[in-house]
Formats: sequence, structure tokens, C-alpha cells
Amino acid sequence: MYIGNLNIKGVVFCAPMAGISNTPYRILARRFGAGVVYSEMVSSHGLAYNNDKTKIMLDFLPEESPIGIQLFGAEPDIMLKAARIVSERKPDILDLNFGCPARKVVRKNGGAAILKDLGLTRALVEAAVEGSSMPVTVKIRSGWDELTKIYIEAGQACQEAGASAVTLHARTRSKGFSGSADWSDIKRLKENLDIPVIGNGDVKTGPDAQRMFEETGCDAVMIGRAAMGNPWVFREITQFLETGEEHPRPTPEERIAIVGEHARLLGGIIGERHALLNMRKHTAWYLKGLHGGAVVRSKINTLESYEALDELLSDFLKDYK
Ligand SMILES: Cc1cc2nc3c(=O)[nH]c(=O)nc-3n(C[C@H](O)[C@H](O)[C@H](O)COP(=O)(O)O)c2cc1C
Repeated sequence: MYIGNLNIKGVVFCAPMAGISNTPYRILARRFGAGVVYSEMVSSHGLAYNNDKTKIMLDFLPEESPIGIQLFGAEPDIMLKAARIVSERKPDILDLNFGCPARKVVRKNGGAAILKDLGLTRALVEAAVEGSSMPVTVKIRSGWDELTKIYIEAGQACQEAGASAVTLHARTRSKGFSGSADWSDIKRLKENLDIPVIGNGDVKTGPDAQRMFEETGCDAVMIGRAAMGNPWVFREITQFLETGEEHPRPTPEERIAIVGEHARLLGGIIGERHALLNMRKHTAWYLKGLHGGAVVRSKINTLESYEALDELLSDFLKDYK
């Protein structure tokens, strides 16, 4: 598929997730076949005001590409400046977040609150397109609440303002993450737009992805929560779509080995000690359901070195067998 002039090889994308989709997470997702990966949402305001912590969030490695950097914000002039700053880093896509339900974001009229104002929707996309040398895409929800499902009008506004694709997380803001995503919204959006539509919400397996393609006609699917501690999901879904056959789930050995690898990838960026401190959450996800995995999780952030981690993991594997 094409996003603007960008030829994308895979149709299973890795969703932006704040606090999660950093470089190691994205490298692993790409390795297992994610067609596009996205950064965590980055504050356009932080970039425009030269905040160092915000600028670090733009860092990525060549093997992550194709990568989309996602911005949030509600002021077009700030968005224009931020888009220029992102362009200097040369990612493949600039994505705008018009779907975040978090109170601290919508209070300042960002995220999903933008869907309440189609004029602002349009102005933000126009500003991003003006400031960006990459294709601009937009990620929306179905609307603010069940009474104001304006995803078709919002998608059309984005398209008219120059967006090259729209991702729809088929829930309203008021639904948060509850209930199930309403894929019929994705179908209707696809019928009403000329640019590609990426479907998102509740895809966990190959059969789910196939059903989303069949029911909605979307151009790609995006995977969020099902990829946490599970980068293999991209390989499994891709194989199922291509052959109709289920790829075997990763073995306990593969799941255990990836903890050490993720820690080292993270350590390459933030240093060994900090990486080990930060691995607790990912380790819990990687080892979920493996008997005894909780012990590894509870010890990992007390370790001083990769060697100590390797020892802990190999003891765990011995006991596991
Ligand atoms: C912890 C967490 C953080 C998220 N952060 C972002 C974000 O930064 N930007 C964004 O557009 N969506 C964000 N999302 C929403 C996901 O990208 C995705 O739309 C949502 O999880 C639905 O897809 P899923 O059912 O495959 O998880 C986040 C979701 C979760 C669970």
C-alpha cells in the first residue's frame, strides 16, 4: 500500500502507545514484521519550546524505519513549528493524535477533543502538512461520545486538509477502552474516503485481522495492546493473512530470551542499570502465564548487570524445563 509517496510493504502496523512504544519495542515489532511502527505521542508544545525531554522522544534508529512520529497538540502555529522540527529528523511519516482520551490532554483541547471542532481539525492538519516534508497521517476515534460520532466528517476534513491516511480506533472517547470496538465505523469511513484507512481496535490474532479486512475493506490493520510483550503477533498475523495458517506461538525459550535482548536494546539507549530498572513491566508481559515468571519480574530491577540477568533467566529456564 502507499501512504502518500511512501510504499509500505506490510499491512499490519504497530500502534503508538505512550510509555511503551520506544525504540526497543519498535525494533522488535519491525523485526517480527510490523509494516509501520509509531513513536509514543510527542507534545508539539514541548518541541516548539525546545524541551530536552520531549526532543529525546524523536530519536529513532535506521532499522525502525518505516516509522511515524506522532504529535499531539491543539494550536496550529505550534503544530507548524513542531512539524518542521520533526521533519529535520527525517522519519517516514508524521502522525497526528486526534484520539487520546486522557484528561490531561483533552483538557487542553488536544487528543480526542479536537474531534469536537472540525475547523480546528482542518487547521491542525493544514499546519502539519505545511511544516512537514513527510506524508501526514491522522489517528482518530469514532467521536467524542455515542451521540457525536463525527468520524466521517473528521476523516473528510483531514483528507481535504492534505492528510495521506487516517487510522480509526473505532471507539468514542467516552468509551475509553471499554466495550468492543465498532468495526462498522471503519467500513463507513473507508467508503467515504479516497485516502487509505487503517483499522484499529481489538485485533489480537490472524483471524481477527482477516475479519477486519473482510468486514471493513480497510487498507491496513493496527495492533496496540495485543503486541505488549508479544512482538511475535506481527509475524503470526502476517503469516495467517498470507497463507491462512496459524504460526506457532513462541516457545518459552524464545519468550525468556527476548527479555535479555530487550534489556540490552534499552541499555544501548539509557544505560545498563536504568534499563534493568525499567524492564519490570515488559518482563511481566513477556513471561505472562509462564509458571515462575513472577520471580524473574520481581528480581529484575534489583540486578546490576546483564550477566546477572542472563543467570536469572537461565535458572528460570532450567526450572521451567
Ligand atoms: C497504554 C496505552 C497507551 C496508548 N498511547 C497512545 C498514544 O500515545 N497515541 C495514540 O494515538 N494512541 C495511543 N493508545 C491507543 C492505541 O494506539 C490503540 O488505538 C488502542 O489501544 C486500540 O487498539 P488495540 O485494541 O489494538 O489495543 C494507547 C493505548 C494504550 C493501551
